[in-house]
Amino acid sequence: MDHQRTPLFSALLRHAEKNPVQFHIPGHKKGVGMDPEFRSFIGDNALSIDLINIAPLDDLHQPMGVIEEAQQLAADAFGADHTYFSVQGTSGAIMTMIMTVCSEGDKIIVPRNVHKSVMAAIIFIGAKPVFISPARDANLGIDHGITISSVRRALKKHPDAKAVLVINPTYFGVCTNLKEIVDLVHSYNMPVLVDEAHGVLIHFHEQLPMSAMEAGADMAATSVHKLGGSLTQSSVLNVQGNRMNPKRIQTIISMLTTTSTSYILLASLDTARRHLALNGHALAQNTIELAQFTRKSINEIAGLYCFGEEILGSEAAYSFDPTKVSIHVRKLGITGYDAENWLRENYNIEVELSDMYNILCLITPGDTQDNIETLLEALRKLADLNYNAQDVPEVVIKVPAIPQLTLTPRDAFYGETEVLPFKEAADRIIAEFIYVYPPGIPILLPGEVITQELIDYIVDHVEVGLPVKGPEDRSVQNVKVIVETQAIF
Ligand SMILES: Cc1ncc(COP(=O)(O)O)c(C=O)c1O
Repeated sequence: MDHQRTPLFSALLRHAEKNPVQFHIPGHKKGVGMDPEFRSFIGDNALSIDLINIAPLDDLHQPMGVIEEAQQLAADAFGADHTYFSVQGTSGAIMTMIMTVCSEGDKIIVPRNVHKSVMAAIIFIGAKPVFISPARDANLGIDHGITISSVRRALKKHPDAKAVLVINPTYFGVCTNLKEIVDLVHSYNMPVLVDEAHGVLIHFHEQLPMSAMEAGADMAATSVHKLGGSLTQSSVLNVQGNRMNPKRIQTIISMLTTTSTSYILLASLDTARRHLALNGHALAQNTIELAQFTRKSINEIAGLYCFGEEILGSEAAYSFDPTKVSIHVRKLGITGYDAENWLRENYNIEVELSDMYNILCLITPGDTQDNIETLLEALRKLADLNYNAQDVPEVVIKVPAIPQLTLTPRDAFYGETEVLPFKEAADRIIAEFIYVYPPGIPILLPGEVITQELIDYIVDHVEVGLPVKGPEDRSVQNVKVIVETQAIF
C-alpha cells in the first residue's frame, strides 16, 4: 500500500482550504467563538480541522470513506486484517476487546497486574476474572509477564473461559514468549487479546520484541499516542484471523465511543501511521541506540541499576524492549518517588513514573542526545548526594501477596456497602479499587479481601506521597467494604 498517503488528514486539509461557512458543531467555528488567549495559543491551523463527522469527512462510527481508507493503511502498517481507530485511548480499545468476547457470567483469564480498564470492562459486563499471577521480580520490586506454565494450568482448569488476555510488553518493557502462549491458547480454540499499550514501536524493528499481530494474537490494543507520535488519547485496536467478527467489534467500539469524535486526534493517527510506516525502522533504531547508551551510562553510576537483557532467560522474561529505561534507586536509600521529586525540583526533569524502588524514563523518537546528557548529569548528582551518605540504609523491598478474590468484581462493586477506616478494614471485602497511577494497576480491586499486609503496603505508599487513587475518599483514610463482615472463602 502507498504509505505516503494520508487520506483522512488530506481530506481535512482540503476541507479547511475551502473555508466552508459552518452551521454545525463545534460552535467555536474555526476558533472565532472561543477564548482569544486559547485560540492564539492553539493556533488557527489546529482549529480549522477541529471538525465533526459531516459527510465529506466520514464517520468513525460507520467508516465508509476517508476514515475507512486511513484504517486500512493502518492495518497494513501494523500487520493486522482490520484496524479500528480509538479516540478513547487504549482503555477504550481494551474494553472493546473484552466486551467483544465476554458476556455476563463468562470467564476470562487475565494476569493480576492488569490495567484498570480491564477490570472496568469485567465489572460492566459481569464477567468472572480468572487471575494468573505475574512473575514477580523480588530484587527490583516489579512484576514481569505471565508464564506459559501458569497459562497452561489456567486453561486446564478453565477450558470454558472465553479468552486469555496478555500484557505485552509490560510497562517496564519485559515480554513473555507471546507466540508460545498464543499457540497454546489457540489449541483450545480460544482467542488471545493483548494489551499492547507500551508496544507500538515493536512493530517496526526486528531487534524489539515480537508484536501481538506477529505472534498471531487475535486482537491487540496499542497506544499509538504513548510512543508512536500521535496525540494523547489516540490508539488503535488491531484484529486478525477468523475467531473475531469485525462487524461486532465495530458495534462495540462504537458503543463505547463519543459521538463527537475529535478529528484532530484521528488525523494524528493517520499521520503517525505514515511516519511509522515510512520511517519507523530508522526511528526505532536511533531510539534503541540512544536508550542503550543511556542504560550503559547509568550502570556506570555507583548506587544505580538500570536493568537490561541480563534479566532475560526465565519464562516470564523472554524478551525486552530496551527503550524503557528503569532506574532502580533503592541502594541510594531513597524511594523512586523521592528521586522523581528531586529530578523535578533540581533539573526540571519529568519521568514517566516512579514507585517505591524505581523510576521509569521512556526513551522515544522524540529524544535527543542533549536530553539524555541532562538526565545523566542529574542522576550522577543524585547518586553523589545519596550513595553511602550518612549510613542511610537501603529501602527494603516489600511485595505483598496477591489478595484472594471472594466475590465477582461486579457483585462487589454493586453490592451493599459500608464505609470503614481503611486501617481497620483487614479481612473485609473491598468494594472499590485502590491503585497507584501511573501505572494504574489495582493493588486491590472490588471483591478482594483486604489483608493487614496490604493495608501496611498501601499506607506506606500514601505516606511517601505516591499517587494512590481509586477510593471515593481520596485521602484513602476510609474505604467502602461489603456489609458482610467476613470474607466468604
Ligand atoms: C499496561 C497499560 N494498559 C493500558 C493502558 C491504558 O492506556 P490509555 O491511557 O491509552 O487509555 C495503560 C496506560 O497507562 C497501561 O499502562
